[in-house]
Formats: sequence, C-alpha cells, structure tokens
Amino acid sequence: MPVAPHIKEFMASSSFIRKMFEEGIQLKKQYGKDSVYDFSIGNPDLEPPAKVRDVLRELGSSNERGMHAYMPNAGYPETRKAMAEKVSGEQECEVPFSQVVMGCGAAGALNSVLKAILSPEQEVVVSSPFFVEYAQYVRNHGGILKTVSSQEDFSLDLEAIAAALNNKTAAVLVNSPNNPTGKIYTTSEIKGLSDLLAKHREKTGNTVMIIADEPYREIVYDGKTVSSIFPYWNDSIIVSSFAKNLSLPGERIGYTVVNPSAENASELVDAIIYTTRILGFVNAPATFQRIVAACWNEPVDYSPYEKRRTLLKKILTEAGISFANPEGAFYLFCKVPKRTNTVGEQGNDGEFCDHLKKYRILTVPGKGFGKQGWIRLSYCIAEESIARSRESFIQAGTDW
Ligand SMILES: Cc1ncc(COP(=O)(O)O)c(C=O)c1O
Repeated sequence: MPVAPHIKEFMASSSFIRKMFEEGIQLKKQYGKDSVYDFSIGNPDLEPPAKVRDVLRELGSSNERGMHAYMPNAGYPETRKAMAEKVSGEQECEVPFSQVVMGCGAAGALNSVLKAILSPEQEVVVSSPFFVEYAQYVRNHGGILKTVSSQEDFSLDLEAIAAALNNKTAAVLVNSPNNPTGKIYTTSEIKGLSDLLAKHREKTGNTVMIIADEPYREIVYDGKTVSSIFPYWNDSIIVSSFAKNLSLPGERIGYTVVNPSAENASELVDAIIYTTRILGFVNAPATFQRIVAACWNEPVDYSPYEKRRTLLKKILTEAGISFANPEGAFYLFCKVPKRTNTVGEQGNDGEFCDHLKKYRILTVPGKGFGKQGWIRLSYCIAEESIARSRESFIQAGTDW
C-alpha cells in the first residue's frame, strides 16, 4: 500500500532531529559513547522524583479492581482536581476542575485542542523559532501555521503578530519558556498580545484564542518566572505535560486547561473531551494519571541543568560561538559563526551541523525551527560529557 505523497513529503522535511539522534547511535558504536557529544534531542536525563517510583510500586501491588479500565474521557476527577490546583496557582485565578482535560502528553493535548477549534484553512500564528512539530499538528487538522519573526532577542514582535492576523486566524500559539531559544515572555508582552487581540476583535469581530504550550514552565533560571495568561485574555487555553519537569516523556501524560472565563468555556471543554476520544487517545494513560495526581508538586532539583548551562556557555564562548542566553528550558540556541577559513562566506546552519559532526558533536539546524543561521543544542546530557566536548568545540570553531 503506497504512503500518501503529502505524508512522504512532511516526513522528509520534519524528521531531522530524529535523524540526528539515529546518526548519534551509529557514531557511538563507531567511536565509543564517551567520545560522542549528543546535543540533539530534548530527552530529559534527570530521573523522575523518587515518589513517582513509590506510587508506581503502591499501584502495582494494589488489589483495587478496575484500575486499568476505561474512565471518563476527560480523565479521573481526582487527577483533574490536582491539575486545577496546579494551574490555579500558576494562572493566579480559581480554575474549577471541570475545565481540565487530561491528555497524552502536551503533543496529544495540543492535537485535541487544534482538532476542536480549527475549521479547514484557518490559521494559527506562531512566533519563530518554534517547536518543529507545530506545523504538522496544525496541518493534521486542516489548518495552516503562519509564522512571524520574533525580535532580535527572541521576544515577541507584537507588530508582526498584529500584521499576521486576519479573519481566518483561529489562535496565536505561544511557548514560554521557548523551545529552541529558552526565552520567557514577560507579562508585559502577554498584556501587549492581549491588547492587540482585543483591537483585532473590535475591528473585525473575530475572537482569536491564545494557546499557551508550557511544558518547560518549571525549568527556569536566575529567579525568572513564567507569566500567567488567564488574567489577561479570557479566550485562552493552557497545554502542558510532565514530560520535562518530572522527566516522564515516555509516559505520555499531559493536560489541557480552558480559561473558565472564555466565551464558550464549557462547550470548548466538551469539544476537547470529544476530540481526545475520536483522535484515538480515548483518555490519558490511567496509571500515570494517578501518579501525577500524587506527584505534581514534588520538589525537583533542576540545578544539574543550570550547571550544564553555565559550563556549556563557557565552552561555546571559548570556541567563538555566540548564543541567546536561555532563561528557561534546556536548550542553547547558537548563532552560526562567520567562517574564518573561507573568504566572505557565512556558512549555513546545516553545513555547520555537518561540520560539528566531524568533531562528534551532534546538534540540530535552526532552519527546522523556522530560523536559518542558528543551531540548537540540548543539554540533556551529563556534565562530564559536556566537559569532555570542550576540545572538540574549540577545534571545530578554529577549523570553521
Ligand atoms: C515546546 C514543546 N511542546 C510540546 C512538546 C511535546 O511534549 P510531550 O512529550 O509532553 O508531548 C515538546 C517536546 O519536546 C516541546 O518542546
């Protein structure tokens, strides 16, 4: 049976991170795993909090019946209550548990939301660079991802967003802390975004939703915090997961929360429950719903990421590679340096990633995130490995 041509095309254009990940496995076989520096994938390598295993053990030895049965598609009420408590604190307003729909990771939750709100050819606006999968998720549901550039420091370019809005705009998607830049949008940027959406609604009658994708909310540096959204724009939705903050990406556990003040809040929640079902997720994984209900507020020590960030920044500076200082998440977005060995040539991000590969450093090109001339490094790797990569970075920088 032939694969649909558009899927073949999307596969070819979007699988570069996975490709690098697989090349990394090959290189590790060839050179030994300690001599390959794999900065390609955002797969958290800190272990989940001990309580996750404790609760898992308890659940494993429980004789309660029906623990693996279907449940209401929105999830267990006690899990939804725990998520409502979490998000009420983050959003500085009271969120009833009826606004929460559990999902299969942030990715599953985003797909449920987009399926619920998008009519064919409607647009979703996102500031670039952005998480590579957004384009596919929007396309999955007949929509079009419209990208706008950000400011030079990767903050939101509100004028560019305003200019991108029209009668077909369904949503603006914001991701803070951002993958790949680590940028956190300030409250004044969020207020500015709300103001321009209000003006757009006044002028056109079109209400645009803010969808905030926040899986990195807890991983922040230098005392930074992530702004709330609900107090500033009623028609807003939070999507998140425990993939990054509790290091549970393989367990596919996430959630959606609809602002209780949204115009059609309960209809929207019902629609997301329905799309979760018809997309074939049916409901979020039962066991991990119970686990996150018990562990969502376990303290986590993110200092290993902070130490790696400091070390990697030092090494990159020594190697002559400049970067955007990440305020959160665990990525460093680096500018491709000017070539020193070729007169007048800048060199593009794909070439620079290939160049780094010769020094057994694996990274991903910025063009996949909608930003040419940059590369992304993920520091989900041991500090010792980052320390060992120093010579390779310096040599690669010198030879470029
Ligand atoms: C910005 C962003 N959103 C969503 C996701 C998907 O997260 P999950 O594994 O919870 O589906 C990721 C994963 O890397 C991400 O970086």
